[in-house]
This record gives sequence, structure tokens and C-alpha cells, in this order.
Amino acid sequence: MKKGCHVRGLPPRLGKDAPAILSVYAAPSDPIEPEQTLMKRILLPAASLALALAALPAAASGDAENGKALFYTCTGCHGIEDYKNAYPTYRVPKVGGQNEAYLVAALAAYKKGERKHPTMQAQAESFSDQEIADIAAYLSSVKKQK
Ligand code: HEC
Repeated sequence: MKKGCHVRGLPPRLGKDAPAILSVYAAPSDPIEPEQTLMKRILLPAASLALALAALPAAASGDAENGKALFYTCTGCHGIEDYKNAYPTYRVPKVGGQNEAYLVAALAAYKKGERKHPTMQAQAESFSDQEIADIAAYLSSVKKQK
């Protein structure tokens, strides 16, 4: 259950690869009609890149105070005091001190059903995007412990 759970739900890293992708498309090779060349090699890749970037989670500013209140119901499983779960036999990921964008992405994925887990989907579905941002702001502000 724990395995890989810090990787799932993360957006693809575009930053470093983007110029390489673009230059592959833009590289002059076989002769095509000029208008086609512009459309196919520059505009289309640029448009899909822009779409991909827009799909990245926006760095919404969350209200940590509200997030703290909302997280109250979560502490039964994600025991925040020592960032371990409340039940020794029930493994739950550590969410305190996590990266804010990661938390937003994880909760949004549960909400959309892209990431499947009955309890977490039910939890996330009850929140608005703003409330998810608030929770992420609170959790990421909690100091990390071992
Ligand atoms: C009944 C126990 C339970 C409750 C209550 C619960 N969670 Fe979870 N949570 C889990 C489990 C189990 C997972 C791991 C599920 C999986 O494998 O995807 C998880 C996963 C997560 C993750 C993803 C962590 C990661 O490392 O990817 C986040 C974020 C999260 N929970 C936040 C919350 C928030 C916020 C609440 C309260 C609104 C909450 N949880 C309530 C059990 C719970």
C-alpha cells in the first residue's frame, strides 16, 4: 500500500524536457509544404505543451488555519502528532510536512477518482478545490519529524 504512493499522482516533469521536445519537432528534416511545416512543427507542439502546462496543479494559496480545522476528521487515521497512523496494524501514509503541490495533486486525484481508495475518495469528494488547497497549506506547514 505504501509502496510507490509518493510517486503516484505527481504531474509529469515538463520543465527540463520541454525545450528538447520542441526542438525535435522544430528540427528541419524532410521537405514539407511551408504552411504545413509551420503548423505541424511549431504550432501544434507548442499548443500541446501549453495544454500540458495548464494541466499542472495551480499553486493555489491555501488558508492553513481553515485547513487545520478541516484536517481534524483526518487525524483518526493520519495521526498528526507523530505523523504515524493511529492504528498500529493499519498503514497510512505520512501527510504532515509533505510538499504542498503533491498533497493538492493527491487529493485532487482521489476526488476525480484517478487514484482509487474508498476512504480517501470519500474524504476528498467532500472538499472543494479551495478546501483541498487549505488542507495542503496546513499539512505542508507542519514540521517534518522522523
Ligand atoms: C479511514 C482512514 C483515513 C482517513 C479518515 C483519512 N485518510 Fe487519508 N489516507 C488513508 C490511507 C489508507 C491512504 C493511502 C491510500 C492509498 O494507498 O492510495 C491515505 C492517503 C492520503 C493521502 C495521500 C498521501 C500520499 O502519500 O500519497 C493524503 C494527502 C491524505 N490521505 C489526506 C487525508 C485527509 C486530508 C483526510 C481528511 C479529510 C484523510 N486523509 C482522511 C486513510 C485515511
